[in-house]
Amino acid sequence: MRVDVDEEGRWAEAVAERFCARLRQRPRLRVCLPTGSTPRGLYAAIAERVAGGQASLAEAEVLLLDEFGGLAPGDPARCATMLARDLLDRLDTPPAAVHRLDPDADDLDAECARYHRVVADGGLDLCLLGIGANGHVGLNEPGSPANAPTRQVALAAATIGAASRYGDGHAAPTWGLTLGMAEILEAREVWLLVSGAHKAAVLAEALEGPVTAALPASLLRSHGRLRVLADEPAAEGLSASLRSRAGDDETVDGGPRHGG
Ligand code: F6R
Repeated sequence: MRVDVDEEGRWAEAVAERFCARLRQRPRLRVCLPTGSTPRGLYAAIAERVAGGQASLAEAEVLLLDEFGGLAPGDPARCATMLARDLLDRLDTPPAAVHRLDPDADDLDAECARYHRVVADGGLDLCLLGIGANGHVGLNEPGSPANAPTRQVALAAATIGAASRYGDGHAAPTWGLTLGMAEILEAREVWLLVSGAHKAAVLAEALEGPVTAALPASLLRSHGRLRVLADEPAAEGLSASLRSRAGDDETVDGGPRHGG
């Protein structure tokens, strides 16, 4: 695990630069992306770089991390709607190279199995994640073990409350579909994005508390190429020994997926 704390107040820009460097190393990056509040500034910064010709996702494949159920297609709280608005509509990625979980499928188990195959066929080079206040990653709520597959999940009360902020005031979703902890941990590289003082306590618990399914983000510590990208307020609760300054970057190639 490596923890990079942005001390210059330009967290989103710094993460965008790192992301675009990955794209230059591997133009055909297969990347899994979250939605929510955390990555919005990052996505704006990536979109600016794409518009300016400094980066391109024309050859990349984008896989959405999760999706809420029970909302109409196009609902502003749907992850697909958020990601389209914040990033995809401003990119050069062909629509056929964007993959999502469909919560409107008749058979949700079959839909999750289909998505598992999409992910497994080529794997993920990079999985970006946010963290919920309850320690969830994707919609892997507390109680999700490391081998939890891509599946339909009931949302925790805290997640329902948080998701209500994404919509336009109508009923919040109570369930969703998510990439499992198993598929997340199989990604070649995982970046945990954490921004804001309201995430400081859960981040400290995830990185320095027990590794437990009760806090799914803590399970990421078993991944050999986990990079935590935090802004200063989010990193407030971390011990000094855990923080490191941003330095030489590794490439996406080589190295074990697990065990560090
Ligand atoms: C969203 C997702 C969630 C969020 C998490 C943090 O696709 O997977 O796990 O990353 O709930 O949400 P924000 O960033 O809104 O605090």
